[in-house]
Amino acid sequence: MQREEIEPALRAALEASLAFQEGLDTARVGACAGPPPLVPLPDSGVGAASALAELVRRAEGRAAASAGPRYFHYVVGGVTGASLAADWFASALDQVASSSTGSPLAVDVEEAATRWLAELFDLDPEAWTGVCTTGATTASLVGLGAARQWWGERLGVDVAEEGIAGLPRPVVLTSGFVHASVIKCLAMLGIGRACCERLSVDNRGTLDVEALERRLASMGDEPAIVVATAGEVNSGRFDPLGAVADRCEQYGAWLHVDAAFGLFARVAPGVADLADGIERADSIAADAHKWLNVPYDSGFALVRQRSLLAKTFRMVAAYLPPSAGDGAPPRVPANLGPECSRRARALPIFAALLSEGRAGIRAMVEGHVLLADQLRGLVAAAPDLELVDETRLNVVPFRFAPRGVRRRDLDPLNRALGQRVLEDGRVFVGTTRYRSVVCMRPAIANWRTRPEDVERLVSVVRELGAKLLEGDEVVPRSSRRG
Ligand SMILES: Cc1ncc(COP(=O)(O)O)c(C=O)c1O
Repeated sequence: MQREEIEPALRAALEASLAFQEGLDTARVGACAGPPPLVPLPDSGVGAASALAELVRRAEGRAAASAGPRYFHYVVGGVTGASLAADWFASALDQVASSSTGSPLAVDVEEAATRWLAELFDLDPEAWTGVCTTGATTASLVGLGAARQWWGERLGVDVAEEGIAGLPRPVVLTSGFVHASVIKCLAMLGIGRACCERLSVDNRGTLDVEALERRLASMGDEPAIVVATAGEVNSGRFDPLGAVADRCEQYGAWLHVDAAFGLFARVAPGVADLADGIERADSIAADAHKWLNVPYDSGFALVRQRSLLAKTFRMVAAYLPPSAGDGAPPRVPANLGPECSRRARALPIFAALLSEGRAGIRAMVEGHVLLADQLRGLVAAAPDLELVDETRLNVVPFRFAPRGVRRRDLDPLNRALGQRVLEDGRVFVGTTRYRSVVCMRPAIANWRTRPEDVERLVSVVRELGAKLLEGDEVVPRSSRRG
């Protein structure tokens, strides 16, 4: 390991990164090349520059252009100049962002960035403790970890100390909007996946508010954890957060909101009403690597009762900085979330917020909602496409539904079409099952996406759909009408 290796390796990374970023607008979106052959661990190293060159070579054709403008799968943001450069800088600084003893810089920036996030989303920065996490899943782990501690205390047990054994089965109430990551958190926290009750009134998963009220009323003094969703992954729909918060307040339940991308609705006046009521939650989970367009992996939790975090996540060891456990001096974010050693992942968030300001983030989110409106319009106008739901935010579920194809054949047709779209690589959009049908669910969250990318999405889906029908394999002509 040599000092002289650092500069050429970083310059090579810069060059390759610039080339990759510059190619994103035109690149094929999906990865296409086959995996390289496995080679045994070399005995003697090749040096930093050659190692870098090998990685760059492997990235050709194997790195997905998910940071590009035509990647509509999942909910994927890109990276901006500020967030990418700050992420690199965070790696170069290589801070131990666990405590202010390890890195005063990282802790200062995390406190400033999470405060700015609260301000951005019109949440009282004094009322919330922010914790940077690896994504929305770990942000929910933080929020639901605090909820579990609260639940135990209501039953007279310090769950972080004593565990959950012997306590009644926890009750977690939610709608059909609940994201798989929340269920994963329930499994990780020992609450159990099966404790989750989905109270839905329709095939969207819409919350049955009356059922929620009845269930909460039936519980007497037993505490309940309610999980609401701000931005369902297939539709961008929201649970009625105000009505849910009312019930939680009335019955003394904990309200956790998974707002992985939906929290950003708060910055755009035309859609901000969707998230009304989130300010009354006890904990909120959100992502920065989605709609803020910072590099993976980056999310954040906002929790009202800091002391619950400290009880749940504190760590004590002779070699670690002594701390009251509540983040008091020395400030110890490692005592507020799941990790011990942690990356200074607030730096890209800080840079993104500073570089764009409130107005820049608002313009991006509003732009994406307009692009989603454009997509809704194009789908509605196409004779062979069908909107699967009327939605308002940045996710647009739709399917290929050409005349003459029976309804029951549309699921296999759309599943096959989804596969063809991925193989084709001009646009990237996966299929899902929503409202009991197979459909596409493009999400728009990348700052690079433009109206022509949305047009391309629609034209590629229609073109490949028509070819699929011509091919006669998935829906034989004999089974069509007319
Ligand atoms: C609503 C919702 N919650 C949670 C997640 C999980 O987020 P992450 O992958 O950042 O952990 C997602 C991811 O798409 C999501 O859409």
